[in-house]
Amino acid sequence: MKTTLWRLGAVLLMPLLAALPAQAQQPHETLKLDAPKPQLLPTPPMGWNSWNKFKCDVSEKLIREQADAMVASGMRDAGYKYIVIDDCWQKSRDADGNIQADPERFPSGMKALADYVHSKGLKFGLYSDAGALTCGGRPGSAGHEFQDARQYAKWGVDWLKYDWCYTGPRNAEAAYTIMAKALRESGRDIVLSICEWGTHQPQRWGPDVGHLWRTTGDIFDAWEGKKDWSIGMTNILDLNVDNWRYAGPNRWPDPDMLEVGNGGMTVTEYESHFSLWAMLAAPLVAGNDMAKMDADTRRILTNKDVIAVDQDPLGQAARRVRKDGDLEVWTRPLQGGDVAVVLFNRGAKAVDMAADWALLNLPADARVQTRNLWSGEVRKGVTGRVAGSVPSHGVLMWRITPELAR
Ligand code: GLA
Repeated sequence: MKTTLWRLGAVLLMPLLAALPAQAQQPHETLKLDAPKPQLLPTPPMGWNSWNKFKCDVSEKLIREQADAMVASGMRDAGYKYIVIDDCWQKSRDADGNIQADPERFPSGMKALADYVHSKGLKFGLYSDAGALTCGGRPGSAGHEFQDARQYAKWGVDWLKYDWCYTGPRNAEAAYTIMAKALRESGRDIVLSICEWGTHQPQRWGPDVGHLWRTTGDIFDAWEGKKDWSIGMTNILDLNVDNWRYAGPNRWPDPDMLEVGNGGMTVTEYESHFSLWAMLAAPLVAGNDMAKMDADTRRILTNKDVIAVDQDPLGQAARRVRKDGDLEVWTRPLQGGDVAVVLFNRGAKAVDMAADWALLNLPADARVQTRNLWSGEVRKGVTGRVAGSVPSHGVLMWRITPELAR
C-alpha cells in the first residue's frame, strides 16, 4: 500500500500519544451524561466496516455494492446488520461549520446513502475523530461535536466510530463523554464505538459512555507480527485475555475488526480468528470485500453455530483456562448451562488435545451432547472430556449441552 504523508504523520504521532502518561492529559471536568445510554447492543454488534480492506478508497458506489452483497451473500440473514464507512468519507466543513462528505465520492450525499442502506433492512454507520483531524487527515469533530451529532442524526446514522488521532493531551474520558452527550441529545439512537486503542483505560469509563471500546491498536491481516502500529491476529488475542471481566450486554470490549477473507491468513487461521472472536464475545465486524467472497470466506463468516456463541444472550466472554506453550483451552459459559469450548493449537504441527470436565467446570459425572461447530458432528452421551487432533494454527470448537440434570 502507498505510504502517504498523513499516514507517516500518524505513524510518528501515535506512539508518542500512546506513551503519554495519564497525568500528562489535560485536567478536566467530565460532563455529566444526563440522558441514559440507549441500550442498543444486548449482544455484540455484527456488521461490516470499510477500513481493513478498502482504507481510504470509499465511495457511495462501494457502500451500495457492499450493502447489496451483505444481503445477497446471506450475511444479513446470518445476523450482520451495520454497514460502517470508516475514515476518509469527509472532505471539509462549509461556512457554517457543517461537515461535508466528499462530493466526488459521495455525489448523492449521506442521507441518500443511509436511506439506501436502510432500504436493505440494514443499519448505517460513520466514522469521526475526537481530534481536529481524523487519522486520515480529514476534518475531525473536536469543537464540532454537537453540530456533527445533529448532522449524523439528520442523515440517519445509527453508529459512530470515534477515533483518537490528533488529540494531543486531551483527556479521553472527557472527550468521549462530550460526543456521547451530543449523540444522546441528537434525537436518534446511535451506537458509540470508542476507538482510543485502549490507551486510557477505556474499560473504566467506556461502559457508561459508549457501547463498545477498542482495547488495542489496529489489527492487520496476519497470523502474528507487527506492521507500523498494527499487530497480527494472535498478538491482538493475547492482549485481550483478561477482558472477559469487562464484557456484558451493551458494553463490549472490541479487539478490532475481522480480517477473514482478506488473504493474509490461511483458511484454518481464519477459522481460528473467527472462533476466538466469537469466544471473546467480540463485535463481529467483517472487514473484507463482501461482493467478492470465496466459498470458504462465506462459510466462515456465516457459520451460524459459531455466531450463536458470539451472540449468546448471557453475554459472558470466554476465559483462557489453560495455556501450555502453543496449546490453549478457552471456555465460555452460555445461557441455559451450555458451554462453548475451543482447543487452540498455535504450533507448527497437529497435536492431540483434550479438555476434561474439571477444566470445563462440569460435574465429574456429567453426560453431555457435543456439537462440533465447524464439522457439524453431534455426539450424544459423551463423558469425561472432549478431545481430538487440532491442526496447526487451528481450533476444535464445540458447544456442550449437559444431558443430565445437575
Ligand atoms: C485508526 C483506527 C483504525 C481506522 C483508522 C482510519 O488507525 O484505529 O481502525 O479507523 O484509524 O484512519
